[in-house]
Amino acid sequence: MTALSVSTSSAATLRADALVIGVAKGSKGLVVASGAEAVTEAFDGKLAEVLTTLGATGAEGEAVKLPTTSGLKAPLVLAVGLGEAVEGGYEAEALRRAAGVAARTLAGAKKAALALPAESAEEIEAVALGGLLGSYSFGTYKGAGSGKEPVGELVVLAARKGSKDAKAAVERATALGEEMNRARDLINTAPNDLNPKSFAAIAQAAGKEHGLKVEVLDEKALTKGGFGGLMGVGVGSANPPRLVKIAYTHPKARATLAFVGKGITYDSGGISLKPAGHNETMKCDMSGAAAVFAAVVAAKRLGLAVNVTGWLALAENMPSGSATRPGDVLRMYGGKTVEVLNTDAEGRLVLADAIVRAGEENPDVIVDVATLTGAMVLALGNRTFGVMANDDELRDRLHATAGAVGEQSWPMPLPAELRKGMTDTTVADLANMGERMGGGLVAGLFLKEFVAEGIDWAHLDIAGPAFNEGGPFGYTPKGGTASAVRTLVRFAEDTAGA
Ligand code: BES
Ligand code: MN
Ligand code: ZN
Repeated sequence: MTALSVSTSSAATLRADALVIGVAKGSKGLVVASGAEAVTEAFDGKLAEVLTTLGATGAEGEAVKLPTTSGLKAPLVLAVGLGEAVEGGYEAEALRRAAGVAARTLAGAKKAALALPAESAEEIEAVALGGLLGSYSFGTYKGAGSGKEPVGELVVLAARKGSKDAKAAVERATALGEEMNRARDLINTAPNDLNPKSFAAIAQAAGKEHGLKVEVLDEKALTKGGFGGLMGVGVGSANPPRLVKIAYTHPKARATLAFVGKGITYDSGGISLKPAGHNETMKCDMSGAAAVFAAVVAAKRLGLAVNVTGWLALAENMPSGSATRPGDVLRMYGGKTVEVLNTDAEGRLVLADAIVRAGEENPDVIVDVATLTGAMVLALGNRTFGVMANDDELRDRLHATAGAVGEQSWPMPLPAELRKGMTDTTVADLANMGERMGGGLVAGLFLKEFVAEGIDWAHLDIAGPAFNEGGPFGYTPKGGTASAVRTLVRFAEDTAGA
């Protein structure tokens, strides 16, 4: 993995394979952002001119290379675009994306120095995190030499002299970035290697490593405990389900958060089989559980003064002679009955069990994260997750939290009239399907039924942003993205600080 450090050396004297600077679109053409003063000087003040000649405009996503002449130890300068030039500091997200583009462009290099605007601790952290996330690559199944290695070492050049804050900022970015990259690895791992059992084992190992309490319920315990949702989904697979509890506690905590993740390690649709073209990426259907797992470990590594319990609802949704049929009725954990009308609406079944179980421990808030519905992708596209809640204030708070860490989200309603479609047509308390219109909200309303009285609950439907099927952009690679991790961690940080 890419090593990250901070240095207050001058960009001119630092030995590296490349020196990264920021450029932006000014009203009178290209401008060079702060942090690159030594580079501007080495080019006799003509750096903006030279870069313009090479075609640089400062647009976001742009990366322009130029060789250095004298005055700089690094042989190469890489100018990355920050978008529109701004006075008084760039947005953290612009810095994260620019650093991400730089790290991706410099794959294969041993060492790169980032001379981007980085004065405040927040800016330093953004540059460091963008760099670490941008250097991610998933090489598990590729032969040696089949692609460029990620950049070996990233040095963030910080303006603050010897500042403790700068070091702490880079350490924070390292903890968060490494856990996000670990979540990406889990999402990208082929579903013949990552199943409920192996995922649970990985959580157990992480628990040992970081001193977190991990409890795993296997299929026997789930059957005995009456977890009809998890069992109903997992019963058709040769890889039986698991419910994992991973708990971080802090002695000074004044609040307890429960994070619940959908962990379908493969979603074939079950007997309501998905057609070809809809199942190739369904290894990503455990992205919610991966996000929750990463967030709990990150909370521990950051030492947040809050208790965070992660619940990973793990199952594989497969068709077989033992699989749940459309028409079957499941008795869920807690006693509610659900008629399964479509076995492809499985996420809500495993989550319902986990939400009831999480509620038994009386947390202050439950937040579930799930690649739950195609309808949410139709509504919000590939980069934005939907936020629903049984409390408007909590919904708006999570939306604001996401915005503050650079994750795109949008608040969605839970209209009461959509509930009818799930209750009127069934022989059970509830069906797992309702009206087709507003399918993402129907799924949210289903989950809401399982939240204990008096508990604030929010639901993040990350079906769009969890898995990037397009080309890489900013610090986001192709494949698993680790969507919602930063939102969960910031939410925990804010709770700890409040
Ligand atoms: N895992 C899917 C949702 C999904 C779709 C995730 C696209 C990521 C990308 C979920 O289990 C599912 O199949 N949902 C159905 C629900 C329907 C049967 C009510 C859907 O959205 O079509
Ligand atoms: Mn499904
Ligand atoms: Zn699914």
